[in-house]
Amino acid sequence: MNQSVFSVAASGVFLALVAQTSLAAPDWGKVPKREILVFHAGVTPIEWVSKKSEHSGSAGMRKGESCAGCHEEKGTLNFNFKRLADKELEPKGAPKSMNFPVGFQAAYDKDAVYLRLTFKAPGGGADQGDKDNDVKATMLFADAKVPQAAQFGCWQACHLDARTMPGADDNKTKYTKEGAYELIQWASKGNKVSDGSVTGERKMSGGTTGVRAEAAKSGEIYTVTFTRKNPGEGKTIPFGIAIHADHARGRFHHVSLGYTLGIGTDGDIKASRQ
Ligand code: HEC
Repeated sequence: MNQSVFSVAASGVFLALVAQTSLAAPDWGKVPKREILVFHAGVTPIEWVSKKSEHSGSAGMRKGESCAGCHEEKGTLNFNFKRLADKELEPKGAPKSMNFPVGFQAAYDKDAVYLRLTFKAPGGGADQGDKDNDVKATMLFADAKVPQAAQFGCWQACHLDARTMPGADDNKTKYTKEGAYELIQWASKGNKVSDGSVTGERKMSGGTTGVRAEAAKSGEIYTVTFTRKNPGEGKTIPFGIAIHADHARGRFHHVSLGYTLGIGTDGDIKASRQ
């Protein structure tokens, strides 16, 4: 401990310094980065992916295969993007960019998990329903009660009767039938940060992650860093990412498949200990 810190130890200033040190941002240059592709998924909610006549992957899903296990190949997504832009799966019209990479980095210390997303948000959106925000970045983290969350990521929250799905009630938000997701979001207008949840309904506040976010735009590249409470070393947490680019609202986001975050343990992405 150096002298100047020591000398203020008796006052509240010391506590403030400690709090700041323990939540110091990681040295991102030393944290491995992995690219996660996000894509426009059209109208393919859990009801669609689970239905044999619609999705031949449904049989493998029941046997325990994950979306990424079947759809990620050599660092790309093997989707038939023409089909995902076609009237059958996308009645409203698809964005010009059907997928794009998000650089993803994760680190943790005793108190917090730090998640850094780096991406270029494409223009050419098909729905510009969010007038306020150019861009939003959202992450969902499933709890242990969300069925097969490690396989299906956010899809257990995505339903055919939720708002912005064709013909759905505009007041019905995403929801789970079992279990809960934590929801954290950064929105570009006013750098708004939301700490919410998805259970029987989606709430944009009242969450327990204590999330903070920092965002910067350099040229066309956005960097969004979330700092949230550490849910516990040794845990493996299923998560998904969604980016709403070009004023997109509701389902017109680009989403990731489901991945797991290992906090000091194995996972699709292993958070680095600080
Ligand atoms: C066992 C392998 C398997 C699993 C697991 C699987 N899929 Fe598929 N998926 C397929 C196959 C094969 C197709 C192409 C033809 C079809 O729909 O039957 C497909 C098609 C799709 C399509 C339509 C675009 C296209 O390429 O035809 C989407 C969207 C999709 N899957 C999403 C998902 C999501 C989301 C999950 C996880 C909730 C998932 N899949 C799990 C095998 C799988």
